[in-house]
Amino acid sequence: MSNFLLVLHSLLRWLILLLLVLNIIRLFGAKGPAKTGNSILLLILAHTTLLIGLYQYFFGDFGIALFKQGAEVMKNSALRFWAVEHITGMVVSIALITIGHISLKKTGKAKKTAILYLVALVLILAVIPWPFREGIARPWIHGF
Ligand code: HEM
Ligand code: HEM
Repeated sequence: MSNFLLVLHSLLRWLILLLLVLNIIRLFGAKGPAKTGNSILLLILAHTTLLIGLYQYFFGDFGIALFKQGAEVMKNSALRFWAVEHITGMVVSIALITIGHISLKKTGKAKKTAILYLVALVLILAVIPWPFREGIARPWIHGF
């Protein structure tokens, strides 16, 4: 697994979380139709993280490869996290971000996008392998 991509994947998390929070605050506070603003940057970074993640999942050791261990992958919570939970939660979150962004661009409806982004934020926070999560802990910033 390329360490550079892992560092990038790990770092982009922080930019995505920051942009989600900024956009949620901006959109909930908006009166009338809202502009896209830096929601476009959020979308691009989310898609880039998705692309890197898919590469890691299919070509690295912490994804599809784990299914070689048979039923154990579903019984063991750490293996299940990497084989199923991280990818599922993140793909759904990024789909919500994409729908939210495109809806904002087309209709300017701030509240709808704010809600979609808030759900995405909660889901992302739930499936990040935070350093305090037993069995799946990864550093705050990869490589440090
Ligand atoms: C696995 C890789 C990726 C998938 C599955 C994916 C999927 C999508 C989908 C479904 C849309 C919505 C299209 C629409 O209905 O208008 C979209 C839009 C977009 N994606 Fe991605 N994407 C990927 C990677 C990337 C990457 C690497 C970038 C940039 C670095 C990127 C940038 C964008 C942009 C700029 C838009 C258009 C947003 C707009 O219409 O305002 N995507 N992508
Ligand atoms: C917003 C989206 C995402 C965030 C914030 C995120 C965050 C993270 C973080 C923090 C790590 C730990 C990196 C480290 O070792 O320090 C990680 C690892 C990983 N992520 Fe994601 N991720 C996202 C999306 C995805 C997606 C969509 C996939 C799969 C399609 C994916 C697949 C992986 C894999 C396979 C690893 C383990 C890589 C390895 O150690 O070989 N991620 N992710």
